[in-house]
Amino acid sequence: MPRGALIAIEGIDGAGKTVNSRWVVDLIGSMGLRSSYTREPTDGPIGRLLRSGAFGEFSDPRVDALLFAADRLHHLAQTIEPLLSEGVMVVSDRYVHSSIAYQGALTGDRAWVEELNRFARRPDLAIYLDVDPAIGLSRKLSERPTKFERVEVLERVRDLYLELCEEGELLRIDASRDLENVRKDLMKAVEELLRNLR
Ligand code: TMP
Repeated sequence: MPRGALIAIEGIDGAGKTVNSRWVVDLIGSMGLRSSYTREPTDGPIGRLLRSGAFGEFSDPRVDALLFAADRLHHLAQTIEPLLSEGVMVVSDRYVHSSIAYQGALTGDRAWVEELNRFARRPDLAIYLDVDPAIGLSRKLSERPTKFERVEVLERVRDLYLELCEEGELLRIDASRDLENVRKDLMKAVEELLRNLR
């Protein structure tokens, strides 16, 4: 059985990651391949702890970095690797580059965050949906903001995401455009990945 592939969809809050990750899952399904949606922070024990806000608004970003990295290794072992070995295409709504961008910005030590995530396999395709933080936040006004959702923080997070794009780690898609154009680019990237897997 051919191995699956891991696709990560990244972006700051309000970039449209969730709706587009689910769309990519459906797209791959429509091509006759098995695909599955997953997300980080996960719904597992460490992810639930992270989402609970138990550490409060001003938790130490280094503690967050450790917890996100632990959640990811658990996610890989429990969910992602088993699906990949069954030949499933896994679409993760956030993955390792979220930690490099968010915890890299908040700890000021990208290299340390990368080291923490050394055992997390790299995705086969990682897409960055790029929007200006002010646009992203305005799209999420109806929801209660998380502690990361401040323009000053998200500007620094975006700078790191853009650095990763320049390094070739992430494929940048301009997500300030209408959905139709964003999806054309998503489809192109997915088709290219699938061609290279054959
Ligand atoms: P979500 O809004 O995509 O559900 O993610 C929740 C928050 O978690 C979001 O503000 C970004 C943050 N986050 C990190 O800071 N580092 C990480 O590694 C991940 C996966 C998420």
